[in-house]
This record gives sequence, C-alpha cells and structure tokens, in this order.
Amino acid sequence: MSSTRNALLRGTGSRGTRASNGPRQWSFHNPVRVTFGSGCLGRISEILDGRRYVLVTYGEPHPREAATRIAAAAGEPLVVIDDVSPNPDFVGLAKSCARLGVQTELPEAIVALGGGSVIDTAKVLSASGGEFERVRRYLVDHEGEEALGSVPIIAIPTTAGTGSEVTSWASVWDRDAGRKYSLWRTDLYPEHALVDPELTLGMPRMLTVHTALDALSHSLESIWNVNANPVSTNFAVGAATDILEVLPDLADNLGSLALRSRMAMAALLAGLAFSNTRTALAHSLSYPITLRYGLPHGLACSFSLPMLLRAVIGDDIECDEGLRRIFGEDLLAGVGRLTDFLRDLGVSVSAEDHGVPRDVFRDLIAAAFEGERGRNFVGAKDRVLDAEEQQRARPGDDAGCSDGNDTTSQ
Ligand SMILES: [Fe+2]
Repeated sequence: MSSTRNALLRGTGSRGTRASNGPRQWSFHNPVRVTFGSGCLGRISEILDGRRYVLVTYGEPHPREAATRIAAAAGEPLVVIDDVSPNPDFVGLAKSCARLGVQTELPEAIVALGGGSVIDTAKVLSASGGEFERVRRYLVDHEGEEALGSVPIIAIPTTAGTGSEVTSWASVWDRDAGRKYSLWRTDLYPEHALVDPELTLGMPRMLTVHTALDALSHSLESIWNVNANPVSTNFAVGAATDILEVLPDLADNLGSLALRSRMAMAALLAGLAFSNTRTALAHSLSYPITLRYGLPHGLACSFSLPMLLRAVIGDDIECDEGLRRIFGEDLLAGVGRLTDFLRDLGVSVSAEDHGVPRDVFRDLIAAAFEGERGRNFVGAKDRVLDAEEQQRARPGDDAGCSDGNDTTSQ
C-alpha cells in the first residue's frame, strides 16, 4: 500500500476521522441480543413468547432432535423448511420462499436452527415475505426495496464459524450466472442469537475444522480491513488467539464440550468483529473458488490466510498492532506459524493442491481486489502477488523464524 493511502486510511479515510492530535473517531454497532451457554436452547419458549414461527433447518438427524425440543417447548411451527442446501442459491431459495408464501398467515418469527446456510436462508425468507422474486429483483436489478419484508429471526447456530447469527447480511448464490450476491439490510440482524455449544457436539471433524477456519478468516479479515476499529479488533484478536489454540485440540477431541464451548465463543466473537467491518480479500478470493471448484466456504477462505498475512505486514500500523497481539512481535514468523497450523489440520496453503491452477489463482487474486470485499483489504495487489510467489518458492521457510532479523517484507 502506498504511504499516501495509509495516511488516508489512518487519518480521514474509511478507518474513521482523526481529530488533530486526538484519537481517531469510530463507531461500533450491533443490535443482536446474544444468549450463550450450554443448554441455553431451553430458553427458546421464553424468547418466542407465544409467537407463530417458521422453523428453518437441515433435514438431518442432529438438528432434527433439537427441532423436536423446540417444538415441545414452544409449540409446533407453522411450517418446517428443512431442505436447505450448502451455499443457498436462487433455485433452492425460490422453493423455500414459495413454501412460506403458501401459508395462510405469515409468521411472527423465523427460527433458524443450523449453520450459515440455514441462517442466511432465514434472512432471505424474512425479506421475501414468501416471494423470492422480491429479493431477486432487489439483488439483481437494485429495485423494489420498499417491497421487502422483515420478519424477526431467532438464530440458533449448530456450527461454530458462520457468524451469521450476529450479522445483517446473507450470501445468495446464482449458480446459473456464476455470481454471488450479498443481501445486506440492517433489519436482517437477528433479533436474538441463541448460542448453545451443546448443539455443535456431533459435528464431524471436517465440518468442525472448516467452520472454525471460516471464523479464523472472519477475525483476521476484520483486522486487515479499512473498516477496522478498536472494538472490532479486540473481538477479532480474542477470537483468532483462541481458535489457534483450541482448534488443534478440538480436532482430536470432538466430544469435548469444554473445547466446543471455547470454539463457539471464538466464532461468536469473530462474528461480532466482522459484523462491523465485513470481510476482505480472503473472502473475495474464495467466492469464485467455491463456485468453480466446489471448495467448502471455510476451506476456500482460509488457505490463503498465510499469503495475505505475509503481504500485509508493515502496510498499516493499526493492522500490524492487532496482528502482533495474535502472532507476537515477529509477524513473518507468524506466517510460518499460521502455515504450520493449517498444514497440521490437513489444509494445504497451495491453491494447486485445492485444484486451482496457479495462473488461474493469480488472475483470481487480481480480480478479488475489484470485488466489494476485496476493496476492504488494507494491503496492495503487487504485494499479495509477491507473497504468492514467495510462498510457492519457500512455503515452509518462515516456520520458527523468530529472531526478527528478516525485515525484507516490512
Ligand atoms: Fe466466511
């Protein structure tokens, strides 16, 4: 990044306004009421308080058991929408909205019990009022905002990673057109996030790792972000530090409620962090990789993190400060630590190992800077491309390099 851009970002740019000789101005806002803790699903009756509700969930045994508990406590839902698929797209969402549309009365609440795809589907249902065309028109044609609805959402995550339970947007995919949209409206913040770590017990290892890596990506992406502020960075540092510490143990002890609880908390903190900054380049880069190569979201937005960490070192003082609170003084050694962390979990940092040819990957990096999320990144395109080159040439050389002498990237 140029020093001019740095000065803009730290002075009067997107990072906020700095009064002369005073601290930079910033604001943080998140209206979601959060209830956290083992067994807190039992609070659902009190939270719904007799309202008519629709349940959105996966048609799998584990959430079905929790759905049964919700129905026993709060009464039967108007309808159960349980055919949500990963990365919900126009076709599936149109069907889900139609199932809401045929109800004789609209719900007073939507309970979303599942991962990010379920919670995002609930947000689309909330805005659609039972007609997906309203949402499609708003996303594609940028028209019809006045026709969008807003049904309160109770989000109950069954994975630890999405953060969607505390954000105001939903990812909506149009596979036929090869595009990904973001439905972003302040009235899509869930009314309440009920985070019960017990619901994440039973998640298989791969899903546990991928969703946790999504949360790690959310936290780092909210730090190397032009919209970062001290509150979002505090949440992000706490989240990333815990994920780096907990995830290797959790991957080997999937039945540990204590580790599940720490991961659920870390994912929540990461969600709160990026609820105010949105994501950045790793996510912008991940979307075409998921669309074209089918990589799960958490994997697609995490294998590039060491490359981006290497690229961003020294570009922004506040960003460096946040990253040092996670990785220590020597951020280049942190690149090695992050690389080892991913590899020990079975995640290669090479795009080619994920089926993405190198020339395609470099083109995608360049294109990612043009995306809405890519423009949030505080780093520069040429440095990311250089970092890709260095990582490819010497992928493991930084591991254990903690003497602080190598400052060539800073
Ligand atoms: Fe994500």
